[in-house]
Amino acid sequence: MKFNNILVNDKEATAIVTINRPTKLNALNRETIQELHDAFEALEKDKGVKVIILTGSGEKAFVAGADISEFADFSEKEGGKLSAKGHKLLFDFVENLSKPVIAAVNGFALGGGLELAMACHFRVASHNARMGLPEVSLGVIPGYGGTQRLPQLIGKGRAMELIMTASMIDVDRALGYGLVNHVVSQEQLIEFCQKLASKISNNSPVALSYAIKAVNAGFKNSNGYDEEIKAFGACFGTEDFKEGTSAFLEKRKADFPGE
Ligand code: COA
Repeated sequence: MKFNNILVNDKEATAIVTINRPTKLNALNRETIQELHDAFEALEKDKGVKVIILTGSGEKAFVAGADISEFADFSEKEGGKLSAKGHKLLFDFVENLSKPVIAAVNGFALGGGLELAMACHFRVASHNARMGLPEVSLGVIPGYGGTQRLPQLIGKGRAMELIMTASMIDVDRALGYGLVNHVVSQEQLIEFCQKLASKISNNSPVALSYAIKAVNAGFKNSNGYDEEIKAFGACFGTEDFKEGTSAFLEKRKADFPGE
């Protein structure tokens, strides 16, 4: 697949998707959002890929937000459409992907950039990263899930303060808030994420996909406990479950077929 704004390395079990508009601090324009959707859709279908790392190119930014130049003259209707389309194509799509997605936050993650990092299943940041939702300083609100995912991750009061002040936080605060799970040097960021990905890859792909579904259900309008019960039961019908339990009883390492 050929892309103009992203790089996809899908040669290994851990695929790396890099948003590649460094001169615009990797701002998310329409084409980039579509390309990310297409890449994630293809990686989800690729049986060789177990985990995906999402990062930004250059040393300065993960993603500095939605591309402001594209929506500055939008009408109310166009604004609503922009948000709905972004949710569907990218932010909800990534959150509900059946394979684990790790955000490697290598610099500014602002507005849509932080929203994208929050849509990933968890985040690792480099020391230079700065995070925030500056939308109200532009006369708009976070429209790619930020008003929902930020309070889910850090609590309502902290989220309200961050959104209302439009300010950026550094990695010490982000770590304290639980917005990122780990902070490492920029040079070590991808390698660190790859190690986590490789640990995850030892586990059952089917069970991982059910775990993502069950965890996400609790943050939707559905009952997370019901989803967990359903997904737990479904695991018993999978080849991965047979292999995982047999391997344990036979005292050997599991080799999951992913079915
Ligand atoms: N949309 C479109 N272009 C963006 C952008 C965005 N969200 N963020 C950065 N860029 C562009 C700049 O316009 C500039 O382009 P130019 O060189 O053609 O003028 C280039 O990226 C470099 O950014 P610059 O502002 O010169 O870098 P900086 O180091 O001085 O500042 C930031 C870095 C992140 C503080 C600043 O770029 C910024 O505030 N960006 C917008 C953040 C934001 O409000 N995001 C939420 C959008 S809803």
